[in-house]
Amino acid sequence: MHPAMTKRMLALSAPESPFKDGVVRYTSTRGFEETNDAYMNILRASDCSTEGLFCQITNGGSQAMSLVILGVCGDAGTEDKPLLLIDAAYTNYASLARRLGRATVSVSRELKDNGSFELPSLDIIEQKIKDTKPNALVVIPYDNPTGHYYDHETMIKLAKLCVEHDMWIISDEAYRELHFTGQATSSIWKISESEVPGISGRRISIESASKVWNGCGLRIGALITDNERFSEQAVAENTAELCSPAIDQYIFGSLAHESKADLNGWFDQQRDYYRGIHEVLIDALKEELPGLIVSTPDASIYSVVDVRNLVDQFDANDFVKFCATQGKVTMDGGEYTLLVAPMAGFYTVKSGEKNPGDYQMRIAYVESPENMKRVPHLFAELFKQYTSK
Ligand SMILES: Cc1ncc(COP(=O)(O)O)c(C=O)c1O
Repeated sequence: MHPAMTKRMLALSAPESPFKDGVVRYTSTRGFEETNDAYMNILRASDCSTEGLFCQITNGGSQAMSLVILGVCGDAGTEDKPLLLIDAAYTNYASLARRLGRATVSVSRELKDNGSFELPSLDIIEQKIKDTKPNALVVIPYDNPTGHYYDHETMIKLAKLCVEHDMWIISDEAYRELHFTGQATSSIWKISESEVPGISGRRISIESASKVWNGCGLRIGALITDNERFSEQAVAENTAELCSPAIDQYIFGSLAHESKADLNGWFDQQRDYYRGIHEVLIDALKEELPGLIVSTPDASIYSVVDVRNLVDQFDANDFVKFCATQGKVTMDGGEYTLLVAPMAGFYTVKSGEKNPGDYQMRIAYVESPENMKRVPHLFAELFKQYTSK
């Protein structure tokens, strides 16, 4: 975690701690003011204007996602006002929508042979909007699972589409600042009214303590919007959950007091860490298995590998089960296997249609750099064991 967060965590009994007497009260549903300020401070460190923004603290970005789905989609059990996703899409949007009885629709992006992901054309997205009448588009500018980065121009194009079709634009910025292309940081909060007239009042961002701040177990996130009514209703809806964890809020609240220079230093450090991992990983994977497609991670902490040029038929789900139950590789004096995410569930396809995810797996950079160095050889060996069965 950021050192300011760790410092607070380790000093919960210190005289300045609100918990020093062993009492942990509910906070307001919107969350501690300081924790809300922390999110605003972080946005300002990324050169986003926070004027006119309304924030509420949630139990991770995940709870913010649920609140957004409740707020923008049509009635439960109907297909009204679905959520528009861009496949391969972070599966929990579809899972949470299903749990809440709300519908999703999607357009698909393509992983090209050179490892880059390409958005469908605006015409295709627009046609989908006309056909299915979604009420909101979800964009993940630093994408999970693809590692795709939406730069400012792309964000503008998508935002214009939302204005034209009177839709909300939901920008999940859980990995904001984790981009590796050398371009400027993009954010829904960097789009100005002069660039996209009418954008104000229809924006929502999902924030998280999990990724950039390495605090995934804290369960702190936020829902930020430039629509006051939406914010009020989202807070009202969330009163049923009382409040987000008070101690976790307090720990995250430490970021309200960090300077812009300090926060940017942290962003640099995080980028360097992940860049170090994928620089080693990608070339080594291609060397180990020539013909393997490996996505260029322009952002976030994931790479997608696609074996479509290596085998005619593949079932990534089955391969992952094989790795978990039978596959093992002896290397560096130990026995190892690998846990990757099969990607079929990241796509919505009609029955009978080919699912690109059957050939694709997501590798997450969540192990130590030493273990990540083992991944290319491990993956290649497990793939060879599986395909020669
Ligand atoms: C794009 C995206 N949004 C939201 C989340 C959930 O974040 P949190 O841990 O804050 O609930 C994740 C976690 O993987 C994610 O990848």
